[in-house]
Amino acid sequence: NPTRTSSRPLQQQWSTRISFILAAAGAAVGLGNIWKFPYVAGENGGGAFVLVYLVCIALLGVPMLMAEVLIGRRGQQNPVNSMARLAEEAGARPVWKNVGRLGVLTGFLLLSFYVVVAGWALAYIPLTASGSFAGVEPARIGQMFDGHLQQPLSLVGWSTLVLIMTLGIVGRGVRKGLEKAANLLMPMLFVFLLILVGYATTTGHFDTALAFMFEPNFDQLTASGVLIALGHAFFTLSIGGGAMMIYGSYLSPGVSIARTSILVAVLDTAAALLAGLAIFPIVFAYGLEPGGGPGLIFVTLPIAFGQMPLGTLFGTLFFIMLSVAALTSAFSLIEPAIAWLIEKRGMSRFKASVLSGSGIWLLSLGTVFSFNIGADWTLAGKTFFESLDYLVSGWMLPLGGLLMALFTAWVMKPDATAQELGGDSAGYRLWRVLIRYLVPTVIMIIFLQAIGIISL
Ligand code: PHE
Ligand code: NA
Repeated sequence: NPTRTSSRPLQQQWSTRISFILAAAGAAVGLGNIWKFPYVAGENGGGAFVLVYLVCIALLGVPMLMAEVLIGRRGQQNPVNSMARLAEEAGARPVWKNVGRLGVLTGFLLLSFYVVVAGWALAYIPLTASGSFAGVEPARIGQMFDGHLQQPLSLVGWSTLVLIMTLGIVGRGVRKGLEKAANLLMPMLFVFLLILVGYATTTGHFDTALAFMFEPNFDQLTASGVLIALGHAFFTLSIGGGAMMIYGSYLSPGVSIARTSILVAVLDTAAALLAGLAIFPIVFAYGLEPGGGPGLIFVTLPIAFGQMPLGTLFGTLFFIMLSVAALTSAFSLIEPAIAWLIEKRGMSRFKASVLSGSGIWLLSLGTVFSFNIGADWTLAGKTFFESLDYLVSGWMLPLGGLLMALFTAWVMKPDATAQELGGDSAGYRLWRVLIRYLVPTVIMIIFLQAIGIISL
């Protein structure tokens, strides 16, 4: 059985189980946890939304994460080749390799706007560190963010820097690049998060934040809030974009996919909750709006940092942490395309990095301009950035996740999936029930609702 030993050179495999966990947690913990989660939770009333989100992670997210890692680990190649190989093994039609193509494309498109938002985070490090927010009145801080978005050249500069840093790491390969960076950056990220939560406890509004996040008030929860919680659960775990598939392909046989996936989901959830506990006490302490939207951490937080004792120091720490989180996710978004170019097109890693980096850079200009000179290039009322985010987060990621779930559940032979998941056990049977019935049903319902065929 060729899948039992890895066909890859050692430099292209994680050296330990922990390295995989940290790299996969790096892929998972990103802008979704620190930028998006707090503001969507804030907009959807807090506690009840958080509860639904946690249930979605446990019942749908974890089994889907396992399915994606499983495909990668058994396929031992880039998403396209892995899907082709497993389809052949299962005696299914080769069209399934398009799921791999969809994953590569999704990661590519997602990264093109991810680098732009990550660029805002990076730009806010020197801005905060130089005391630009200290004692500045709230309206002015809002204008600073808007003003930042009005400068295409500066935005391009920052997102280019993010992309260069990403390529600088990914270009070194799995062991020397991805693994080394994750081993250093992920512990650092969690330490910074804990420091910031500790700092938030000194504001005297920690209890308010706890109540806001954990006391479910179901009056505040709408059907669309439930859908947002569900979609965000997939996004935050990096499901459906080929990222977890490619990371799984560098994982050696024998490591438990169930245990590592659960741990990755726990780390991702912990990061989101800790981010909430770092942000909301500050927001409440200064009487600001928890439903501040996408500007929550770029406007609301700087307002608070500008008034707090040691706000410059902790504000800087915050934006460093945000940049680190974004960067480790960026690695995982470009790696599927790079691995595909190397393994399918025979390119060197260097060439593959430069080529895919250039493509992403070009596409990122669309997002940059959607905040300034291209603000009125809209499609159905959405700017380029909004359309791309909607397409990727609302459709491509869930579709990719659905197809991967269907593939492992209905196309692959039970023997094969059981072998990857460590044998036929009660846990395996639970996974199989969830991935065969619950996951497809729920995702179909979201799609039908989104198309407008049913309304929840
Ligand atoms: N999970 C990442 C975040 O929360 C985003 C992401 C999605 C990364 C899909 C890779 C693939 O920010
Ligand atoms: Na995440």
